[in-house]
Amino acid sequence: MDVEALKEEAGVAACAYVKSGMNVGLGTGSTVKYTILELGRRVREERLEIVGVPTSLATRDLAMEVGIPLADLDELEGLDVVIDGTDEFDPQFQLIKGGGAALLREKVVAQSSASMVVVADGRKQVDTLGAFPLPIEVTPFSYNTTKRAIEKLLGCKVAMRLSNEALLTTDNGNYIVDAHTGPTLTNPEETERRLLNLAGVVQVGLFNNMCDVVVLASSEGVSILEKGD
Ligand code: 5RP
Repeated sequence: MDVEALKEEAGVAACAYVKSGMNVGLGTGSTVKYTILELGRRVREERLEIVGVPTSLATRDLAMEVGIPLADLDELEGLDVVIDGTDEFDPQFQLIKGGGAALLREKVVAQSSASMVVVADGRKQVDTLGAFPLPIEVTPFSYNTTKRAIEKLLGCKVAMRLSNEALLTTDNGNYIVDAHTGPTLTNPEETERRLLNLAGVVQVGLFNNMCDVVVLASSEGVSILEKGD
């Protein structure tokens, strides 16, 4: 089975967690795109009544295109569920996110949600986080100083993220650096805490103690992994 088909299976299966009346966080990326397409179809064809809160401008545009009613996070009293992709998840359901540069809004939305459902294919499941370079959002004001401080703190190479040969700018007007730690992040809570101590760091792509369920697609089909299983 090709990876795109697995992404679609996971993305569509996760829609089972969405019911009429819910406020739903809409994640960012090529897997959750299938969730958004399917939720849009259900809104149009099955009278599903939801309000979506997008985690990026790209997701906002897609959700509007497929007809999902949207609101700003600040207009709502909180969200029932967020469905989002991930770059890696470990056995404790700690995540690395931010491959699509949307980590700040994704984390704010996840923290505002009663539960978090992650959609993934088998490539994302790891024993120890860090083979995927850790995305960190930094303020443009001091990005080189902050990059050097992160290199010192983590003891690894840190690269500025580029887009079309220029520094990538996030939806929030910041930059992203990617820390090449290798699969060494055995204590992601401590790593997150230490990085957030650096004033130039806006947010870290470690999502600790947020994910409740992983909808995992593999060649054997879709499995639902629940935290603590
Ligand atoms: C965006 C993200 C994405 O959810 C993550 O990169 C996974 O994306 P994909 O489903 O395309 O592999 O964190 O910031």
